[in-house]
Amino acid sequence: MQCWADNSEGLEQAVEALRAGKLVGMPTETVYGLAGNALDGKVVASIFAAKQRPTFDPLIVHTACPEQAFALASSIPREAEVLAERFWPGPLTLVLPRRKGLPDLLSAGLDTLALRVPSHPLAHQLLVRSGLALAAPSANRFGHISPTTARHVMEELGHVPEVAGVLDAGPCEMGVESTVIGFPGEGRVVVYRLGATPLEELREVVEAVEWVRATDRDAQSDRVQKGEQSPGMLDRHYAPRSPMLLLERGEPAPAEVGPTGWLFFDSALDVEGPRELLSGKRDLREAATRLFACMRRLDEQPVKRIVAWKVPDQGLGRAINDRLTRAAEK
Ligand code: TXA
Ligand code: MG
Repeated sequence: MQCWADNSEGLEQAVEALRAGKLVGMPTETVYGLAGNALDGKVVASIFAAKQRPTFDPLIVHTACPEQAFALASSIPREAEVLAERFWPGPLTLVLPRRKGLPDLLSAGLDTLALRVPSHPLAHQLLVRSGLALAAPSANRFGHISPTTARHVMEELGHVPEVAGVLDAGPCEMGVESTVIGFPGEGRVVVYRLGATPLEELREVVEAVEWVRATDRDAQSDRVQKGEQSPGMLDRHYAPRSPMLLLERGEPAPAEVGPTGWLFFDSALDVEGPRELLSGKRDLREAATRLFACMRRLDEQPVKRIVAWKVPDQGLGRAINDRLTRAAEK
C-alpha cells in the first residue's frame, strides 16, 4: 500500500486509483475512510472483502455536495433538508429512501441509503476531481478501532491488494465517526449512531430528534425492521485486543489483576503501568480527537487489560461514552 502526501501529486495518484476501480484510504474530518466508487458493484464488494465486514452492515456514500447526495435518494423528508442545510458539509450522515439502480450491496439489501457530504478539504478534493460518489466505511478491519491517522490505516489494511494507498493528511480533527440519522416515517427523526455532531446541536434545529439506546438484543432486529435502529450497531465494536473494563465517573481504580493500561479523562490516578490522558483541560472535543489513538497505544502495550472511565455524558461526551461502552462490552 502506498502512502501519498497531502499535495497535488498525491491527490492525482489517489484519483487515478479510484478511477481504476481500486480502494483508497481517505482522510475525513471524523476518521479515515476506505473509499471506492459507490456505483460499481464489484468495487463495493471489494470494500466489504477488504474489511471482512459482514454483508448485512450497509455503507455510507460520500458526495462532493448536497445536490449530488440527494440525487441518490428517491425522496427527501423535510427534516433531512433542514439538517443538511445546517450541518453539510460536516460529520452528519442521513439515511434516506434510495433511488433505483444502485448496487444492492451498498445498503445491504435495505431500501434506504446512508449519505454524507464530508467537510475535510482533501476528501472534498478527492470527490470533486474523481467525479465519483464514494462509498467509505471507516478504514479498519471489522470490529476494530477506527483509524484516525494514515499509519493506523496502513496497520489495519496495508496487506490488502485492492487498497492502492492512503492519502496522509495527518490526524483527523473530530476523531469519532459521523452521527447517523434516519427517518422511519410519520415525521420521526431517529439517531442510529451518536457521533461527531452532538445531539444538543441537532435538537437546536429539529427539536424532535430521538435517541434510544437499545440494550435488549432480542429487540434489536425488530427495531432494525421498523427503521428505528441501524443494522451496524453491534454491541461489541471498537474492540481492543486486551479486554477493557469501563468504570463510571469517580469510581476508584480496581485492584490490579496483572499488567494494566489506564485510560483517564482529565486527571490520572496514582497507578502502575502505561496510561493515557484524554484531555488534561477537560475538553470533550480534544478527548474525542485523541480517543482512538489513545486506545490503540494502550493496546500496543503488553497489558492484560485496559481500565477506562466514562467522560461527562453531554455533547461529544455521549459519542465518546458510546465508543467506550461498545469497546468494553463482552
Ligand atoms: O464518519 C463516518 O461516518 C466515517 C467516515 C469515513 O465518513 N464512516 C463510517 O462508516 O463510520 P462505517 O461504515 O464504519 O459506519 C456506517 C454506519 C454503520 O453503523 C451502518 O450500520 C450505518 O452507518 N448505516 C449505513 N447505511 C445505513 C442504512 N441504510 N440504514 C441504517 N444504518 C445505516
Ligand atoms: Mg466503522
